[in-house]
Amino acid sequence: MKVRKAVIPVAGLGTRFLPATKAIPKEMLTIVDRPTIQYIVEEVVASGIEQIIFVTSEGKSAIENHFDYNFHLDAVLREKKKVVLGEELNMISNLIDIVSVRQKKPLGLGHAIWTAKHVVGDEPFMVLLGDDLVLSSTPCAKQMLNLFEEVGESIIAVQRVPEDQTHQYGIVEGEESGRERTHRVTRMIEKPAPGTSDSDLAIIGRYILMPEIFDLLGKTTPGHGGEIQLTDALLALSKKRSMFAYEFEGTRFDAGDKLGYLKAIVAFALRHPALADDFREYLEKTVTEK
Ligand code: UTP
Repeated sequence: MKVRKAVIPVAGLGTRFLPATKAIPKEMLTIVDRPTIQYIVEEVVASGIEQIIFVTSEGKSAIENHFDYNFHLDAVLREKKKVVLGEELNMISNLIDIVSVRQKKPLGLGHAIWTAKHVVGDEPFMVLLGDDLVLSSTPCAKQMLNLFEEVGESIIAVQRVPEDQTHQYGIVEGEESGRERTHRVTRMIEKPAPGTSDSDLAIIGRYILMPEIFDLLGKTTPGHGGEIQLTDALLALSKKRSMFAYEFEGTRFDAGDKLGYLKAIVAFALRHPALADDFREYLEKTVTEK
C-alpha cells in the first residue's frame, strides 16, 4: 500500500488574517520569497507523493494560477534572458500532477477532505493543511510516510504543547507503541477544557488517513461552530482500526495566525541561502541595541 496522493485543503476563509485576506488567499501570503503554500507543495514533492489535490473555494484561483504554467511570463523572462528564473518557476508544476476540487460552502475541515473523496478513491492518502509549515531536515511528510511503510495504518502528526495551551488544539491520548516518537491512539479530544486530559500531544496539520475516513466523514454530523470536524471522524476511525500519533522531528508554524506567520518569516529567512547572514547580523544588532 503506497501513499500516492496528498489532499491540501485551502478553502477556509482566513478570517484571522483580515483584512490581508479579503482579496488574497492566506496561503498566498509571502514567507520571504514564496507563498506559504509553495513550501507545503515543495515538502510534498520532496516526499515522493505523485498527485496533489487542492480543495479550493471561491476567491482561491491565485493558488491554482501559481502552480500553473504562465505562458506570457515565460515568454517575457526568455526575452529578458532570465531563463533560469523561468525554469525555476515552472519546476514545481512540472514535478507533480496537481488537480483541484471545489468545496462549495466552508462547512469545515472534515467536509473539505470529504470533498476530495472521488479523486482520492480507495487508497490511503495524506492531508496537509495549507497554512501549517514544518521546518525540518527530513520533510515532515517523508518522516510520516516512512512510518506508514512500517505500520500501514492512519498516522496523525503531533507535537507537545505547554499545558496551558492544550485547550487550543485537538489533543491525542495514547499508549506505548514500541516505536520511537510513536504512540498508539486511545482517545482524542477537540480543544479539551483545562483538567480534562493529561496529554500534551497536540494535533498539527499533517495526517495519513485510510480511505474509510470518507464514509465516516459522510456520517459525521456538524459539531463545534456548525462545521464537520475532522477530529470526530478520526475518533470514529480510531475505534475501528489502529491509529498512530507521531511526534515529528522539526518545528511547526501556524502561518494562518499572525504571530505564527511572523515566527515563520524569521525562521525561514534565517535558513535562506542568500539572506541568512545579513538578516542574522541585523537581528543581533537590533537585539543588542534594545
Ligand atoms: P483554519 O480554521 O485554520 O482555516 O482551517 P480558516 O477557516 O481559513 O481560518 P480562520 O480561522 O478563519 O482564520 C484549517 C485548514 O482547513 C481549511 C483551511 O483552508 C485551512 O487550511 N478549511 C477549513 C477548508 O478547506 N474548508 C473549511 O470549511 C474550513
